[in-house]
Amino acid sequence: MTNQSNAIKFYSGEQIPVEQHKVRIVQKLFLRPIEERKTAIEGAGFNTFLLNTKDVFLDMLTDSGTNAMSDNQVSSMLQADDAYAGSQSFYRMEEAAREVFGKHYVLPVHQGRAAENIVSQAFIKKGEVIPMNYHFTTTKEHMELNGGKVLEIYADDGLDIKSSKLFKGNIDIDKLNAVFEKYGKEKVAFVRMEASTNLIGGQPFSMQNMRDVRAVCDKNDTMMVLDASLIGENAYFIKQREDEFKNAEIKDILLEMCSYADLIYFSSRKVSSTRGGGILTNKKEYYLKMRDLLVLYEGFLTYGGMSVREIEAMAVGLRETCDDTVISQSPSFIKYAVDNLDAAGVPVITPAGALGCHIDAMGFLSHVPQEQYPAGALASALYIISGIRGMERGTISSVRDENGKDILADVELLRLAFPRRVFTLSQTMYVVDRVKWLFDNRELVGGLQWTEEPPLLRFFMGRLEPIGDWTEKLVAKFRADFGDSL
Ligand code: F0G
Repeated sequence: MTNQSNAIKFYSGEQIPVEQHKVRIVQKLFLRPIEERKTAIEGAGFNTFLLNTKDVFLDMLTDSGTNAMSDNQVSSMLQADDAYAGSQSFYRMEEAAREVFGKHYVLPVHQGRAAENIVSQAFIKKGEVIPMNYHFTTTKEHMELNGGKVLEIYADDGLDIKSSKLFKGNIDIDKLNAVFEKYGKEKVAFVRMEASTNLIGGQPFSMQNMRDVRAVCDKNDTMMVLDASLIGENAYFIKQREDEFKNAEIKDILLEMCSYADLIYFSSRKVSSTRGGGILTNKKEYYLKMRDLLVLYEGFLTYGGMSVREIEAMAVGLRETCDDTVISQSPSFIKYAVDNLDAAGVPVITPAGALGCHIDAMGFLSHVPQEQYPAGALASALYIISGIRGMERGTISSVRDENGKDILADVELLRLAFPRRVFTLSQTMYVVDRVKWLFDNRELVGGLQWTEEPPLLRFFMGRLEPIGDWTEKLVAKFRADFGDSL
């Protein structure tokens, strides 16, 4: 069933993402009245990370650790082999990882950022640079903690919100060559490619781009590192959008992508719909550089900080990443939301990518200055009027410079994640409906300011408050339009 996809043509001619699974375990949700939601976000310091899920209706904060597991994954957990060393569960996962990624050495870690820690410690020396398509928050912190400098070398139009460019996650090859010319190959720690580039709207890179990057790495004798946390979706987009691969099997696309990388790491919280993570390479010398750090930070080589139950589910989940119906589910629902919002004039990142629907908060709230955090304000406003929890991906997720001034983010995004196989189409329609209402009432929404601002990764634990009384006005307008409805 190579080409089985979730997008089904209806009698009307419309392509509708129809679920290719049935729901057998469910979790009750609560949609609280708007007044209670306003109280909840006040209690959370206008930071959606600090909400209690008992107050959340649709949790679209992230797909990390929240994808639905399959029946086969859950049942595999029963055969888990509890052992500190030599667990059979690990060997089953190792076999699956070798099969899917085509690399021999498999190092387990407790989650993606643990891999970033080990890779950064092992391969970055002070003063070195790391060119990449775009950074991820924890990636950048780990690299900088080890004295490295992140260089983002996406194409000039890679950050355009509205675009028909199919591979906005590509590395610009001219810029990559320029990095080697400027710094010299001995100052380049490695080149990093992130599949389905998270912070620029889940945008993929093409296979051709990987080949081109590989050629530059070969010329300069430099290592290429692949962040494969969202590799399944990137492979799906390669199949959909790159002519050469339209009849290819996902497993073969994955293997070719991985063949270009010297080292692969991933968050299993995404790629295999479990928890945990891993690092892979074919090069013994790289493996040996990381092995002892792994034992120091994560635990023994056959569990790496994970429970053996998760390791079993990971083995099954990695193989399921090669199934079109698994990896197309989230992108096809995202596409449904993005296309509907775009048609209504709401500024969303196009074309639809992986991970979530990304709303351009600067376009949405053009009257809120970037210093007053439009993406954070939009996240709070949407939660208040709908119970939907999204994630700010803008200046709140950035840092301050040495003079204490905010480094304004390239893009201010509200991300509404679509964890795999979690939400239904009617829930997706509810998302579209409430975002449209908010867009029509956007003038009511104001900015935010800090009340507590931690120095490191401030977006996780920081607290803010609204500037003025816009939240009251928003609640009043909601009640006027929706009456008693939730
Ligand atoms: N790399 C990418 C591309 C990621 O998206 C993430 C996590 C990580 C590394 C770190 O992995 O969370 O397992 O430690 N992304 C999550 C998100 C947090 O919500 O997008 P982790």
